[in-house]
Amino acid sequence: MHSSKVFSFALWFFLMVIQVCSAFEEIEHQHLLRFWNALTVDEQTQLLAQIKEIDSNTIFLQRKLIAQKEQTLGVLTSFKDFANRGSEANLKIGKQLISEGKVGCLIVAGGQGSRLNCEGPKGLFPITSIKKKSLFQLFCERVLAASKQAKRPLFLAIMTSPVNHKETVKNFEENHFFGLDSTQVFFFSQDEIPLLDQTGNLFLESPSKIASGPDGNAASLKYFVEKGIWSKWYREGVRYLNYVHIDNPLADPFDAELSGFHHVEQSDVVMKCISRNDPLEKLGVILKKDNILSVVEYSEIAPSERDAREPDGSLKHLCGNISIFSFKMDFVREVAMNYDQLPFHKAWKAVKYLTPEGKTKMADKPMAWKFEKFIFDVLPFARSIKALLYPREECFAPLKNASGDDSIATVRPALEQYDRQVFFHISGMAPPLSKTFELDPQFYYPTPELLEKWKGLPLPDASYIDP
Ligand code: UD1
Repeated sequence: MHSSKVFSFALWFFLMVIQVCSAFEEIEHQHLLRFWNALTVDEQTQLLAQIKEIDSNTIFLQRKLIAQKEQTLGVLTSFKDFANRGSEANLKIGKQLISEGKVGCLIVAGGQGSRLNCEGPKGLFPITSIKKKSLFQLFCERVLAASKQAKRPLFLAIMTSPVNHKETVKNFEENHFFGLDSTQVFFFSQDEIPLLDQTGNLFLESPSKIASGPDGNAASLKYFVEKGIWSKWYREGVRYLNYVHIDNPLADPFDAELSGFHHVEQSDVVMKCISRNDPLEKLGVILKKDNILSVVEYSEIAPSERDAREPDGSLKHLCGNISIFSFKMDFVREVAMNYDQLPFHKAWKAVKYLTPEGKTKMADKPMAWKFEKFIFDVLPFARSIKALLYPREECFAPLKNASGDDSIATVRPALEQYDRQVFFHISGMAPPLSKTFELDPQFYYPTPELLEKWKGLPLPDASYIDP
């Protein structure tokens, strides 16, 4: 390197260290530099960059939240004013909107999949029974089929996080975007927020990385706007944003009935929901909080409300949150502008940490506070919210755990059952119960030609049914 370049680099580095030291004094965390001398210049730069990003106001809020013992949830009353799905008129309106390019889909895939024990992006998990398509592939093929039905390329945005962004994009590139045009797909990564130990301090996860985690799925709306995707889509005519989670393979990225209902109601938000069967299910509870339609997370609701029943034995809070929302695009921008007002939620978690010898280890029991902003906390910003109730088997089969409930052992049968229903709906012929098969997603968004071809046909003798 030329000597003047060496000098400029050294000066830049020196100034950065000074800046960082003053940031550190503000948050009292010099202990994070204890492996400094053993780091390479690249690692030192990496650590400095992280330190520069630390926002002392956020740390202040995080500490305040830790100190807060009880959360006050306000007055909780039941919500029963939902509509039921099944309107042909809304379906028709929604199909028209989608074919005019007025609907786009946002999939959030930035979570860590810790309960699933999966290291890479959760979207790579092989989910379907026969072809073992990944969650990403399944969603993309749905978008492809919906685009074919709409006769136009529909927009798809995917939120990743710093830990899985590169791998996600690489997977899409290697698989040629699963048939989608790369200009239809918009990736953006969320940020991370520091974790805090039990005394409210920052700590290291590796000698050059401060322990941190994704900042929650509500961040998706903020980054969607900040990264310019909102403006691009809005210019192209998108007016409704369908929000879904990557871990629910029954989530419909282009649900015509939901969009049609939204267009008719003209509320800021429509939430798709299901009936709660088991009060202990890990499902956010939909209710009214201080008379505003809200969700209280399963981890935060008091057992007395969670389990409360009416005199006839039915659950007092009937509806569960499956985190599928249709947002008006204008509302999304308002949320992004007011994002700082959303509260943080804290959770006590087992996380990676650095041993005194400088080795990264995964804790075997909870040891740190993780902070996230939840998507449903945008609801209080809405002027009006409507809820549409769906049968669970049509829209919800979450992949959360490595085994047991909400694992591959429950998700695959749910997908198979859904395919059975869809095939029956299209052909009018019930597939034999003994037969395991997988439908190509084009059956989910049938074109008139597909409907014509399959009407009255029995299930072919194949395990993957191509249209
Ligand atoms: C979530 C809902 C819960 C609902 C349940 C249904 C929230 C806050 N809670 O709970 O009310 O009943 O799903 O299955 O949404 N994600 C990110 N970035 C993050 C955190 C999460 O993209 O920083 C994504 C995950 O990739 C996943 C989704 O958000 O797609 C849900 O995250 P997870 O933490 O698994 O939520 P649940 O606890 O299952």
